[in-house]
Amino acid sequence: MSQRGHAALRLPVLVGLASTVKGQRGAPTLKVSTLSALLFLWSSAVCPRAVAQESPYFLTYDHYLEEAGNLELAYVSTLGTQRAGHDFHAFWAEFDYGATGWWTTELYLDGQTTFSDGTLFTGFRWENRFRPLAHEHFINPIIYIEYEQINGADKILKEVEGHDVESDYGARNAVLRQELKHELELKLLLSKSFNGWNVAANSLMGKNLSPSNPWEFGYALGVSRPLAVEASPTRCTFCPENFILGVELYGGLGDAQALGLPGTSHYLAPVAAWNLPSGWTVRWSTGFGLNHNSHGLLVRWGVSREVSGFGDMVGHLFGGRRGPRGDSADVAEQHHGHQHYAELAHVPERAKAERNPLMQDPNAVAAGGKLFGQRCAECHGERAEGTHRGPSLVDEQVRQATPGALFWILTNGVVRHGMPDWSKLPERERWQIVTFLKSRQE
Ligand code: HEC
Repeated sequence: MSQRGHAALRLPVLVGLASTVKGQRGAPTLKVSTLSALLFLWSSAVCPRAVAQESPYFLTYDHYLEEAGNLELAYVSTLGTQRAGHDFHAFWAEFDYGATGWWTTELYLDGQTTFSDGTLFTGFRWENRFRPLAHEHFINPIIYIEYEQINGADKILKEVEGHDVESDYGARNAVLRQELKHELELKLLLSKSFNGWNVAANSLMGKNLSPSNPWEFGYALGVSRPLAVEASPTRCTFCPENFILGVELYGGLGDAQALGLPGTSHYLAPVAAWNLPSGWTVRWSTGFGLNHNSHGLLVRWGVSREVSGFGDMVGHLFGGRRGPRGDSADVAEQHHGHQHYAELAHVPERAKAERNPLMQDPNAVAAGGKLFGQRCAECHGERAEGTHRGPSLVDEQVRQATPGALFWILTNGVVRHGMPDWSKLPERERWQIVTFLKSRQE
């Protein structure tokens, strides 16, 4: 199916949303929170869910993009202490859309309450992340480009850059909001997953677009791992595989005129994510300021949920001809001149020959089946029979693939053609899925 057509259709919707909210400077805080609350309710009531394997990071990005056609909704709160001034509660609503398998576009709406002061809407950000490489490599780069229009009262501290210090945030909202920031942010996101671990390093350069402002720099680093690297065979809320723990380190690196660590702020934050089988993810982070320029404490928490097939729903609203499910006839068709399953022929020989370590494992089929239901069924169908979003996996060409070849496809994805890479699942979970797929094909 045409992912490109989808992207072209959906983007104006998101941009339209941004401009509507921007135009409501009067009482927009209420609108933002009402809008996100409504979207959440709507999403949990009517939308097909996908269980996401959300990382616990709040600032750091790994190299996994949103699945093509899915929308992720998130709400995040940050409680911050302020030495000279009042403590605050800053919040953002986030809408991440997988425009294609290699491009995720995101809208953020920010607001804050400063205690004994007031509540206000502080601006919006529009982010884009692009994956330049088709396969999984030793280290995986993502290019990040963001435009933001926020005011000086924005306290979500989603990125720390230049000479950002605590005292910048001490004045009253009425004063802070006078400063308008139109900024362009560029980031290089590098990340790698192995044995369940993820390590991610982001470098950032940002520039206020009004003249005479220098480029500013910053960094964010993250490490995380689930509590278990193998899925249990039954649906469970509290099992260790659902919890991912990690730590983030982030801060400013000065600007083009004065580069370096002095006169900037830095934070160390233990982080945790809990991926619930209902499709919700809950995240927590306690950030500690590492020097006297930093806020003493930044406590963050957030909830998110993925809406599977959001693109199809919107397409349908706008008269798209494709139904929500089932047109599997076009699945076998060509995809921009690319044939499904073509990637199977390109699996390296060594990967094809790799043995499945869980072949004899009595739990692997059930655990793999559970994972398949959570992560794959939204595109490949509950029984792997295929939907218009992904081809059948009981087709002859998949039957003939070796377990090693399927493992390789899972690890690398076919991201150019809408098949996500699943290296974010620990190796043993990927083998559990392969074991399940092979059992379906017998
Ligand atoms: C967002 C939708 C989506 C999800 C989720 C998804 N896939 Fe796919 N998958 C695709 C698409 C689209 C293709 C076809 C890619 C192509 O054209 O080569 C595909 C192809 C495949 C193939 C065949 C390789 C090929 O070259 O076509 C396998 C095997 C596969 N997927 C397994 C899985 C498994 C297992 C999961 C869950 C862990 C999964 N997929 C999740 C969309 C998805």
